Amino acid sequence: MPQPVLDARSIHKSYGRGESRFDALRGVSLEAHAGESLAIVGKSGSGKSTLMHILALLDAPDSGALRIRGTDAGELRRSEVQRLRNEEFGFVFQQFFLTPDATVLENVMLPLVIAGLGRRERVERAMAALRSLELDDKAGNRATDLSGGQKQRAVIARALVNEPSVIFADEPTGNLDSATGLIVEDILFGLVRERGITLVVVTHDDDLAARCDRRVHLRDGLVVAADARTDALEAVLA
Ligand SMILES: Nc1ncnc2c1ncn2[C@@H]1O[C@H](COP(=O)(O)OP(=O)(O)O)[C@@H](O)[C@H]1O
Ligand SMILES: [Mg+2]
Repeated sequence: MPQPVLDARSIHKSYGRGESRFDALRGVSLEAHAGESLAIVGKSGSGKSTLMHILALLDAPDSGALRIRGTDAGELRRSEVQRLRNEEFGFVFQQFFLTPDATVLENVMLPLVIAGLGRRERVERAMAALRSLELDDKAGNRATDLSGGQKQRAVIARALVNEPSVIFADEPTGNLDSATGLIVEDILFGLVRERGITLVVVTHDDDLAARCDRRVHLRDGLVVAADARTDALEAVLA
């Protein structure tokens, strides 16, 4: 079996201490492989966002191990973690808003600024990402002037601009009407199919979860059910 892109082993994470300590993750293990879509599902408060933040190197576990393509994230320096995150991951989170007063183009270029690319290459790559989401005509608009669906497409363009291997999406359609939500879903699954991107999505939406290759169910910080990778998927990935 090929090496997983993400390999989490026995992840623990608590908030607070003493009397007010809350164990949000109590030993979670999962793998995500290249080119698969994985849904993380469970009730509100089950630990989904905490898990996604840890998988995405936005937060560190209290214990347990996370390997990104075999690299132990716990052994990396902070700057190396940031570089890995910026190069390998794209984010479609509700709380990762676009900067409202900046243009759509500036918003999409941000990961490339962090990566240290020159202006000319930043513009070229950001425009290519915007074109792939049919948003290039909005490049000069302020982000506030976009509709909800256009904003989420701009967020996806920003997530894509560094050609990530994994896209993390936390309730990506939560703020959208169902028709617009379906368009955004189609775009995300298109990326999995056409670019071999791994999609890790947190969702309350059963239909969205059902579209994913696999589902991991969390309850009270534990995995209570997880779909096995199917033989068909094994064959594709082998
Ligand atoms: N920063 C925090 N401080 C204290 N408790 C937190 C914090 N973040 C999350 N929690 C608690 O941890 C649990 C899991 O939260 P979360 O991962 O956001 O769940 P979900 O995304 O499944 O709704 C919840 O009970 C939540 O209240
Ligand atoms: Mg959450």
